[in-house]
Amino acid sequence: MSPLRWKLLAGLVFFAGNTITAAVPFPDPAELPVRQAWPDPLQFLDGSPVTSAADWNDRRRPELRQLFQHYMYGAIPERPATVKFEPRAVYKDFLGGKGTLKLVSVSFGDPAAPTIDLMLVVPNSAKGRVPVFLSINFCGNHALSEDPRIPLARGWLYDSCKGCRDGHATDAAHGGQAQDWPIGEILDHGYALASFCTSDIDPDRKEFTEGLYAWLASKAGSTNPPKPADRGTLAAWAWGCHRCVDYLVTDPDLDAKRIALVGHSRNGKTALLAAAFDDRIALAIPHQAGCGGTAPSRGTVGESVQRINTAFPHWFNANFKAFDTETARLPFDQHCLVALMAPRPVLLSNAVEDQWANPSGQFQVLQAAEPVYRLLKAGSVGATAEPGPGKLVSSRLGYYIRPGKHSMTSGDWRVFMEFADAHFGRGR
Ligand code: GCU
Repeated sequence: MSPLRWKLLAGLVFFAGNTITAAVPFPDPAELPVRQAWPDPLQFLDGSPVTSAADWNDRRRPELRQLFQHYMYGAIPERPATVKFEPRAVYKDFLGGKGTLKLVSVSFGDPAAPTIDLMLVVPNSAKGRVPVFLSINFCGNHALSEDPRIPLARGWLYDSCKGCRDGHATDAAHGGQAQDWPIGEILDHGYALASFCTSDIDPDRKEFTEGLYAWLASKAGSTNPPKPADRGTLAAWAWGCHRCVDYLVTDPDLDAKRIALVGHSRNGKTALLAAAFDDRIALAIPHQAGCGGTAPSRGTVGESVQRINTAFPHWFNANFKAFDTETARLPFDQHCLVALMAPRPVLLSNAVEDQWANPSGQFQVLQAAEPVYRLLKAGSVGATAEPGPGKLVSSRLGYYIRPGKHSMTSGDWRVFMEFADAHFGRGR
């Protein structure tokens, strides 16, 4: 395709709510050029350079968002016409009076639509609006705390979650992960914590017979259901994050300008994607996110694109499968997704024994995103080599690696708070 044609294509990209729609389709993956080197984030698809911050913001950023949706994640659905917030309960005596627990239901005016059970804990000692960590959980809100007033997740859950059987939580599931979520410390530190479970949006299963896409398909009718190229579970979960943010920006106890999004592993991939597409999210912490998130698709360490597409085909759209053995045809790599965060802070945190997530490749991803941060006068990584274990690089392109395995622990949360402190000012 001629450079002129590409220019026309880029010019025809426009926004519709959160979703970007291309007026003209992009070429088939097999027609894309082979590029072993990671594509330059500051070069348009037609090869012309990005020469100013305005070029980046107004044209290259929309182009990249469009490319990621088209070739990898599927479209992030738009905000529905109706988004309702219903407070289900408010308990001022959470954790012996340290915090107030709010249970909020986020719904969309249609019984066939997913409903999100959002849990929010706010420090009672706060003098004004506080920053908040929005965190995506695997095992249900009930797993974060022993408090039995947090209802069990309604949807399908992994049997590997403590107290879950046959895909559902039992009473034994309360507090199943409480030791890894130091809610008391987070409150003492002056932060609020909000959380929701991905299964409220879309169960982590290959079929698209329930959850967000099933609802969208039923709304569209049989004539225009979402196409396989338009859907992927990570995009559905990112949509869920956006709907939770819709609520958080309205809560009078929270500082809407200091919302940090945290997710571990598959939820880390989701956290980066959601933050890259929603500027209301001020800071992102994709923890041990790895392939399909923070690790390079062209990387040679750990999980490959082919492997993730085979094991978890539903996470990405149909087009992404075409890159299984052809990652060099991708018109972006994951540094471009990190660059979509600019100038906002992002922390890629890792564990030494979690080579599946390619920690060193993630450091290179940060370095490759740097030109965009520099263009926007948002600084650089601030380290020329990967730091040793236990040393936080707290620039806006932040990095951290600790000893140990693939997990999210209380110790990791302390690092998340330290990073957020550096960018938000102390929570308290
Ligand atoms: C698997 C998968 C990873 C993912 C991880 C998780 O290991 O291969 O890509 O990050 O599960 O979500 O725990």
